[in-house]
Formats: sequence, structure tokens, C-alpha cells
Amino acid sequence: MKINILAIESSCDETAASVCCNGQILSNVIASQKIHELYGGVVPELASRAHMQNIVPVVDAALKQAKCNMADIDAIAFTQAPGLIGALLVGAQFAKSLSLSLGKPLIAVHHMQAHVLANLINEPKPSFPFLCLTVSGGHTQIVLCKSPLEMEVIGQTIDDAAGEAFDKTAKILGLPYPGGPLIDKYAQQGNPKAYSFPEPNIPGLDFSFSGLKTSILYFLQNAGTSNVYKEEFSTTPDERKIFIDNNLADICASVQHRIVTILLNKLSKASNETGIKDICIAGGVSANSGLRSELEIRGKANGWNVFIPSFEYCTDNAAMIAIAGYYKYLANEFSDISVASTARAES
Ligand code: KG4
Ligand code: ZN
Repeated sequence: MKINILAIESSCDETAASVCCNGQILSNVIASQKIHELYGGVVPELASRAHMQNIVPVVDAALKQAKCNMADIDAIAFTQAPGLIGALLVGAQFAKSLSLSLGKPLIAVHHMQAHVLANLINEPKPSFPFLCLTVSGGHTQIVLCKSPLEMEVIGQTIDDAAGEAFDKTAKILGLPYPGGPLIDKYAQQGNPKAYSFPEPNIPGLDFSFSGLKTSILYFLQNAGTSNVYKEEFSTTPDERKIFIDNNLADICASVQHRIVTILLNKLSKASNETGIKDICIAGGVSANSGLRSELEIRGKANGWNVFIPSFEYCTDNAAMIAIAGYYKYLANEFSDISVASTARAES
């Protein structure tokens, strides 16, 4: 029997739709909203408006790419949380309207759970239980996955997310939003050992990135001579700009190296504590080339089986919502039309 899921994702600044058939992705369409680049970050109201404009053509394109029509769809999955309320509402109301008008079941999906399940899209797949380092613009978590729908967050950030650390560093360096991919690009030409940034001493499996951001700020204000706060900065804004321009690749490589080692050191700790050696990554920051290559190296050293989603399934997409929807369909986890369109989600 064929089970076709149509999935809709609209939690932030990507309007996305996907169709999957028995867990195989047939289409994955994403309309990225460029407008936010002008403002240095996502503007919620503009995101909602862009979702309104994009959602019909994006869903149409996903159906066409999958060579299906609405009659072939068995259930409609949508991102319920977490995300920007207005942005989520557009996708949720669209999904509910489709469900109601077509008489197809509705499936509410948790965006972070879907990021983790992106690891079940392609072969080879991890075996349960596995650990997943989920690193995005709003979250940094180590998740223990016991089955597709049974997940436990065993570590998380106590302040900024890893993606925020990338984006805020980029902002300090004068790079446009979103800065993560640009830091990644410049880092590829730089020396990761050129500058040293501190690793926070946070107990257990939790993370902290706010201190790193501050230390980078002081480092630049002192033109690389120190990352300690001084009452008077030793440089003028012009001198700082020249320092950044002359050392951009080394600064990006050194910051990226620190973020990646903070993430991987906690992942090693989690693997040692749980004895789990099937290790995955997920979320926008899992597209980072430094994280991907360092994870492979550490995996070999520790005897891990490492799983890394392909790039298209790392940053926000609807294929991951479709795969999560498929597992929920198999588990009969449907939502009533009156389900909350968005939910407050702490994790
Ligand atoms: O998962 P995602 O697309 O959206 C959220 O759910 O937040 O993650 C977006 C985050 C942004 O902070 C972005 O800068 C970061 O992922 N990101 C990267 C890279 N690509 C995206 N960070 C570092 N290196 C990259 N290549
Ligand atoms: Zn995301």
C-alpha cells in the first residue's frame, strides 16, 4: 500500500512543501525569502507576508515535481512549532484548509523532531538508539532518539544557539545575514589555530555560546591582541575594520573551530555517558563544512557510526516534515482540525 504525505513548512523564512511516498522523498521545494537580508535578520511580519505569497505556488510545485495531485495524498503534515507565530499560522491554516476541504487527515509536526528525522531520509540510516546533535538558528540540543517518535533532549544551550553564535559573529564582522554560511566560506581559506577563543566550562551536556560572542567582540575591539574587556579599546573603528579585512579568513576559521570543538566535545561526552555510537547531526548548522569534516575525524577516532544529512535536508525544508509526518501516520498520530495551529514549544 502506498502512503503519500504532503508536508508544509513555514516556521521561519523558508516557505517549503514536499511529498513523500512510503518514506521516499518525491519532491522538496523551498522558496527562500531574500527580503530579510536588507534588515540583518528575519523580520516576522515580512516573513508571514512572504509565506502568504509563496505557499500556493510552492505546494503546487511540490505536487507537480512528485507527479501527483491532491487526490493521491493520504495526509497533510504541517510544522506546528517552534517558530515565528505569524509564519507558522500561514502554513498551519493552509494545511487545515486542505485537510478540511479534501477530507484528508491532518498531522501536526514538531520542527526540531523533524530536523532529527532528516537522518532517516537517505541510506545508510542510523540504528536506534542514536544520538543527534541538533544545531540550528534557535536550538542547540543533544537528542537521544529511542525510536522515530520517542526522543529525549539530554543536553541543550543555556543561552544562545550555535547558529546564533555564527550569525552574531558575522554581524560583528560586518557580514550580511545569515552569516553562518559566509563564516563557513571564509573559514575554508583560514587557519583555525590563528587565534584562540575560550571554551566555556558548562556542567553536564549543556552548552553556552554567549560568552564566546562577547569574547569575539573584545578581541576585535582590541584588534586581535586580547579578548579581555578593557575600559579603553586600543583601536579606533577604522583600525578594527582594517584588522578584520586583513584577517577575515583566519578570524572565521578560528571562531568556527571553537564553535565546532564546543559542540563535538559535548557530543563525545554524551556518547561516553550513554555508550551510544550511532551519531547524527541535524539543523542548519549541520551544513557547516568544518562541523561535518571534524565530526567524521572524531567519529573515526572514537569508533562511531556517523550520519550526516545531505545539505538540502540540513537547513529548513519540508522533506523532513514529510518524513516525520510519515512516521506519525504509521503510529496513527493524527490531529483534529481544532488542534492548536501553533504551540509553545520549549524544546
Ligand atoms: O535549521 P535552520 O535552517 O533554521 C532554524 O530552524 O533555525 O538553521 C538556520 C541557522 C542559521 O543560524 C544559519 O546561519 C545556520 O543555520 N547555518 C550555518 C550554515 N548554514 C546555515 N551555520 C554555519 N555554517 C553553515 N554552512
Ligand atoms: Zn530549523
